[in-house]
Amino acid sequence: MTVEAAVPQDWQAIGNLEALHAVCQRLFIPDPDERLVFGEGPDHARLLLLGEAPGEKEAAAGRPFVGNSGRLLDKYLQRAGLRREDAYVTNVLKIRPPGNRTPRTSEVKEALPLVIRQIELIRPAVIVCLGSIAVQAIVDRKAKITEIRGVWQEKDGVHIMPTYHPSAVFRDENKRELLKQDLSSVANVLSKLGT
Ligand code: URA
Repeated sequence: MTVEAAVPQDWQAIGNLEALHAVCQRLFIPDPDERLVFGEGPDHARLLLLGEAPGEKEAAAGRPFVGNSGRLLDKYLQRAGLRREDAYVTNVLKIRPPGNRTPRTSEVKEALPLVIRQIELIRPAVIVCLGSIAVQAIVDRKAKITEIRGVWQEKDGVHIMPTYHPSAVFRDENKRELLKQDLSSVANVLSKLGT
């Protein structure tokens, strides 16, 4: 995984997702045989799901959340009455950290301007932060997921629900219930906003 030397970017000048994707491809170079995972979904989705970083399956497919975590996420979205295909799904990091390690603070910092621009271009009404990396990236650098999860946040008019990452709930029945609860709350807010 390579992040090209900081190329000064006027991120605000990037006017659409296609152009942002192209910039990303210049800046973030995945390992050979892996792909950049920019994100997918409707350009102006009302709901944006933000994960941590692509895993092995995602880097092979070039798509977010297609492995075990993705299957679990899809199942719980469906139970909450949400359709994955209506949401924009992406991650803070667009390339897989070696060995699926947790992203470093420096990597999150490098990726952040692009994630912020991606969000600005999509203009979702609601963002679900899946896990602490996503919450710390866009809500509060010091947030603890166990304290903040399930508590609605608001930033620049966007409603943000911090919740557990699907990979954190596999072996924990309590966390699984909380993730389901948080996604139901997301479905309620989206239907109340009626946008
Ligand atoms: N975990 C993530 O955070 N994102 C993915 O796309 C897959 C697994």
